[in-house]
Amino acid sequence: MRERWTWRGAFVVAAIGSAVGLGNIWRFPYVVYNSGGGAFLIPFLVALLTAGIPLMMLEFTLGKRFAGAAPLAMKRAGRAFEFVGWWAVFAGFGIITYYAAILAWSLRYLWGAFTLEWGADAGTYLYDKVLQLMPVLNAGAYGSLFGISTPLIAGFILSWLAIFFIVYSGIKGVGKVVMITMPLPFILIIILMIRGITLPGAAAGLNFYLKPNFAALANYQVWLAAYGQVFFSLSLAMGILIAYASYLPKDADISNNSLMTTSMDALTAFIAGIAVFSTTGYMAAQLGVPVQDAVASGPGLAFVAFPEAINMMPFAPALIGVIFFITIFTLGIDSAFSLTEGVVAAVMDKFNLSRKFTSILISGLAFLVGLVFISRGGLLWLDQVDYFLNNFVLVLVGLLTCLVIGWGYGAHKIREHINEVSEIKIGIWFDICIKFITPIILIILLVLNLRERILAPYEGYPAFMQIIGGWGMLAVIIILGIVFMFIKTKETPQDEEGEV
Ligand code: ALA
Repeated sequence: MRERWTWRGAFVVAAIGSAVGLGNIWRFPYVVYNSGGGAFLIPFLVALLTAGIPLMMLEFTLGKRFAGAAPLAMKRAGRAFEFVGWWAVFAGFGIITYYAAILAWSLRYLWGAFTLEWGADAGTYLYDKVLQLMPVLNAGAYGSLFGISTPLIAGFILSWLAIFFIVYSGIKGVGKVVMITMPLPFILIIILMIRGITLPGAAAGLNFYLKPNFAALANYQVWLAAYGQVFFSLSLAMGILIAYASYLPKDADISNNSLMTTSMDALTAFIAGIAVFSTTGYMAAQLGVPVQDAVASGPGLAFVAFPEAINMMPFAPALIGVIFFITIFTLGIDSAFSLTEGVVAAVMDKFNLSRKFTSILISGLAFLVGLVFISRGGLLWLDQVDYFLNNFVLVLVGLLTCLVIGWGYGAHKIREHINEVSEIKIGIWFDICIKFITPIILIILLVLNLRERILAPYEGYPAFMQIIGGWGMLAVIIILGIVFMFIKTKETPQDEEGEV
C-alpha cells in the first residue's frame, strides 16, 4: 500500500516547502545579477507562465494519477517514456549533491553569526575563510580539489543527517517537518527586505533589479537562464513533484495546489531579490562604484550581501544573523529532502526495496559525491555542475516531458483530469503551452546553447572540468536513464495498478 499524506494540506505545504528554497534566496539573485539585472524579470515571468505553471500541473497530475515516482508514472503513461523519469531523477540526484554543500555554508555562517565572524569584509570571509578557495585561484589550478574545506565539514555532516532522518521517516515525517520549515523563513525574508530598502543607496540597487532592459531580451542566454531558473526554483523536471503527488488521494485538487505553489515561490524569489539588491545598492554607495561592480557575481552573491546587511542592523545584529541563517537552512532543508525523496521513491518503486534501505543507500551515495563540493575547489565544480544540470538536463527533461506527455499520452487527457478534480478549471491554453509554445522555446534554447558550449567552454573552465562536470555527466545521465528503463524488475502489485 502506497504511503499517503497524513493531513489535509500536507501535500501543498510540502510542495511549497520543496519549491521555495535556496533557489529563491541564493540562486535567483545571482542569476538575475549575471543576466544584467532588470533584463531578467520579463523572461522569468514568461517562463513561469508558459512552462512553470503548466508543467507543475502536469507533474502533479502524472504523480497522482499514476501513483508512482517519476519513472513509474512516466512508464504508466507510456511504456517507452520511463527513461524521461530517470533523467529527471538523476538530475535531482546531481542537484542534491551540491545543494547540501550550500546548506553546509549556511550552517557555517550560523555558527559564525554569533560573533559576526565575517567582520567588515564579507567577501574575503566567504572565499578565503569559509570556502578556502583562494589557494586554488592563486595557483590557477582550476578543477583541483586541494582537500576538503574544514569549516564546512561539520555543517555538511549535520545537513545530511537531517536530510537522511526525514526521508527515512517517510511521508508522515515529511508532513510534520514542513509545518515548521515551510512557514518560518517567510517572516524573516520580509524583515530583511524592510531593512534592505531602508538603507542609503538602496534605490540604485532596486533600479538595477527592477528596471526592464529591453535590449537584453535579444540575448538568448538570458532566456535560457530564466527557463533554467524556473525549473530549478519550482522543483520541476527533478522527479520531486511527481513523487510528492503520488502520495495524494484520488480527488485532490490540482489547479489550486499548482497555483498556490507557483505564486508562493515566485513571490518569495521576488522579495528575496528586493532584499539582496537593495543591500547591494547600499554596498555600491559605500564603495562608490556602480551596482554591477559592488559584489563578486556568481554563487557567492547572497552570502556576501546578507552578512553586510546584518552588520548594518541597528540593534542586535548577531541575533538577527543567527535567526537569518536558521532561516536559510530551514528554507533549504525541505527542498533538500524533497530532492532526495524524488530519488528514493523512484528507486523504491523500481526495485521494490524498503524505504529504510533506499534512504541509507541514496543519502550515503549523495554524501560521498557531494564531498567534491565542499573541497577547496568545490565552488568552481558547483558552478560547473549547476550550470549543466539546469541549462541542459532540466531543460531537456522539461522538453521531453512536454513531448511524450503532450503528444504521446495526450495533453487533453491531463487537462480533462485536472478539470474533473479541480475547483479552478483550465482551458485549451494548457494544451497549447505543453504541445507547442514550451517545446518550441526549449528546443531553440537548447540548440543555441549547445552550439555556444561547443564553441566555448563555460566560464573558461579547463577541459577536464567541462568533461567530468559537464558533457561526461550529461552522457552518463542519458545512458543510465536508458539502461534503467531496460532493467527488468519483478512486477509489484502496484505496477499492475496502472492508471488510478
Ligand atoms: N526548488 C528548490 C529550490 O528552489 C530546489 O531551492
